[in-house]
Amino acid sequence: VKGCQMMGQAKIGIIGGSGVYDIDGLENAAWVTVETPWGAPSDALLTGRLDGIEMVFLPRHGRGHVHSPSTVPYRANIDALKRLGVTDVIAVSACGSFREDMAPGDFVMVDQFIDRTFAREKSFFGTGCVAHVSVAHPVCERLRQACLAAGRAQGVTCHDGGTYLAMEGPQFSTVAESKMYRDSWGADVIGMTNMPEAKLAREAELCYASVAMITDFDSWHPDHGAVQISDIIATLGANSANARGLVARLPAMLRARDVCAHGCDHALEHAIMTAPDKR
Ligand code: ADE
Repeated sequence: VKGCQMMGQAKIGIIGGSGVYDIDGLENAAWVTVETPWGAPSDALLTGRLDGIEMVFLPRHGRGHVHSPSTVPYRANIDALKRLGVTDVIAVSACGSFREDMAPGDFVMVDQFIDRTFAREKSFFGTGCVAHVSVAHPVCERLRQACLAAGRAQGVTCHDGGTYLAMEGPQFSTVAESKMYRDSWGADVIGMTNMPEAKLAREAELCYASVAMITDFDSWHPDHGAVQISDIIATLGANSANARGLVARLPAMLRARDVCAHGCDHALEHAIMTAPDKR
């Protein structure tokens, strides 16, 4: 696999969050069903070519939005992308903002996460084969820079870095929680889905970046009331159009694929504890 990835072409995987259930302009588009040892992915995956580059799209919540953040089959989703030969995964997700200067409609090119999820399977490893990958730097910087350039070319206000707090949900945060995440923990945005997705992508040795599309100010903001789905949906429409524009610009930026300079595609090299003859 390493030999193929070296100096090869990228195959870009897009995981679409709330409001993003397909992508535009794919040639030879086909929805394919993929089986995995971790069960079925959220939905079939949409494959095709965009601007000469192979693309795979997966709607995280399934078409019709049938999986809640806690029931999304994260392991099957990442495994399915890996099985289809994806090298670079870009997650596009709705989120709330903890910062006055990160407003609804803006995109944040996340560079750190705080994982507060607790009711999800978080690893491909366990009994039989034990591995501890590093997620100190959970986002592939090359992909993140490409997303930043693509978002800015699309005319979206894009923030270069931010800490995404992943909460379990499905309820939104209390005002006290929201203020704690913002003031004590230094989080910039909040969502319910990027974890354990980012950790699993690292375990699968896939480059991963997250485009967080702001829909609301969560519940801390004195001038904005509680988060409401109706407000989120109103912002999602514009965000989703911009997300589609961003995605369309990615093939030109990610065409050439070398070994990842940040180590994402060889994350397991020093991570496996179990002796080879015991695996
Ligand atoms: N997704 C969109 N807005 C959110 C918020 N405020 N909290 C958690 N997830 C979200």
